[in-house]
Amino acid sequence: MAQYDVVIIGGGPAGYNGAIRAGQLGLSVAVVEKRETLGGTCLNVGCMPSKALLHASEMFELANKDFATLGIEVTPTLNLPQMMKQKAESVTALTKGIEFLFKKNKADWIKGMGRIAGPGKVEVTGPDGSVTVLETKNIVIATGSEPSGLPGVVVDNKRIVDSTGALSLPEVPGSLIVIGAGIIGLELGSVWRRLGAQVTVVEFLDRITPGMDAETAKTFQRSLTKQGMAFKLGAKVTGAKASKTGVTLTVEPVAGGEIETLTADYVLLAIGRRPYTDGLGLETVGIVPDKRGFIETDHFKTSAPGVWAIGDAIHGPMLAHKAEEDSVAVIELIAGKYAHVDYNLVPSVVYTYPEVAWVGKTEEQLKEAGVAYKAGKFPFTANSRAKINHETEGFAKVLADATTDEILGVHIIGPQAGELIGEYCVAMAFRAASEDIARTVHPHPTRSEAGRQAAMGVEGWTMQA
Ligand code: FAD
Ligand code: NAI
Repeated sequence: MAQYDVVIIGGGPAGYNGAIRAGQLGLSVAVVEKRETLGGTCLNVGCMPSKALLHASEMFELANKDFATLGIEVTPTLNLPQMMKQKAESVTALTKGIEFLFKKNKADWIKGMGRIAGPGKVEVTGPDGSVTVLETKNIVIATGSEPSGLPGVVVDNKRIVDSTGALSLPEVPGSLIVIGAGIIGLELGSVWRRLGAQVTVVEFLDRITPGMDAETAKTFQRSLTKQGMAFKLGAKVTGAKASKTGVTLTVEPVAGGEIETLTADYVLLAIGRRPYTDGLGLETVGIVPDKRGFIETDHFKTSAPGVWAIGDAIHGPMLAHKAEEDSVAVIELIAGKYAHVDYNLVPSVVYTYPEVAWVGKTEEQLKEAGVAYKAGKFPFTANSRAKINHETEGFAKVLADATTDEILGVHIIGPQAGELIGEYCVAMAFRAASEDIARTVHPHPTRSEAGRQAAMGVEGWTMQA
């Protein structure tokens, strides 16, 4: 029977980063993964393929609409199979990269479905049906999440698709209805709109992207609407009927009112994700997930001794970089080191055009907590780099404690916002004051100057470029 210090169930960002860290710290480690490739949701059907399509479709739209402004006359033609092929090639290169890192760090990949079979035991059913039992001092659950379902809407991944189906549609839909104005809906909705689909987003709440700073979300919705995305807010889908050629949806206003029928070539259901722990044998060690399916933990320890849980399967933002942080922390704790993850400093990025990125608290959260804060805001219309690039949408906003000036939250909407937020993640990790950023020299002309100007705005000394 194979014996390990750590067996991780799940080879996504939580699992593979943990395995690499374990190898680096000299722990013997195996990862049980049922997919044919490592990398989990993120690399196979999440972050990576979606970003590949977002990039390619953005280039297509730029060439279609914006190159002419720069004096470049082109008439692009879409080659969808090639766009999908380059996406698949990037994904393969990345998943192979993880395999290489496993070898380099002496982490074993055990292919198959893992099931906890009592304390210190993981049973693996391989692709050929053979069963192996691994003995281990520590079990780490890193089984991730799956798309949430909606009663009355059956995902067939033909006409009614989830995020995985939406990454591989065989054609550009004439029309696409997205259920859920969250990150998946807006990212993948943007991809297909850019390629030519009429996209309508149906959202239960009266706003888009819950969790995003409300002022930023309003600007974001305005921008997406200007690009041609339609929104039906405060509306719930009560049923969907798919045929060979399309889908008919029944939609009802949340506040009550007339039922409406909408039709589209395709429907994307994207109303959130839930933890995936099917067939995991949690009962063999007495773990009972909470009502929403999350495994409850205290510093990654579950209620069962020697069983830990990380990533999307536990509470906290369902993001790859959060899963990665969890994984490093859990392995360091297992190795007897100190480890901690500050979930307040986990940044979020929506990779649309414009991008939206934030870290720390929103204005609404600060108001609700009764924290006195000052805000500094700077529009990209006044940023010289944005101006010369003809990309002036959006702003940077810095929220700082009114007494101490510590930065409490940063919200950026504009091209490359995801690249700009990293500076503030570091600053906030060091508990910087807004003045620290305001008095730091930034290169000119760059978009990062808008982030600095927003910090200057906290004390009211913003300069217009
Ligand atoms: P997963 O990545 O879900 O990995 C879990 C793995 O465990 C899976 O491979 C699964 O096959 C395996 N598994 C489960 N049960 C068993 C079992 N019993 N035995 C063996 N194997 C098992 N996050 C970002 O930060 N940035 C993004 O840009 C981003 N884009 C996304 C786009 C889409 C379309 C989606 C769906 C998600 C996106 N996410 C993004 C979220 C990100 O993918 C997840 O937060 C991340 O993958 C979670 O990592 P994880 O390791 O916890 O779980
Ligand atoms: P989400 O939680 O971001 O958004 C779901 C949306 O659906 C919400 O606006 C919610 O109000 C709405 N909704 C819920 N029930 C509904 C209903 N019955 N009818 C209409 N609307 C309804 O979930 P999403 O977009 O599915 O993404 C799941 C997770 O994946 C994200 O929370 C995020 O953690 C991760 N992700 C991260 C990305 C990134 O970091 N760029 C990209 C894609 C996904």
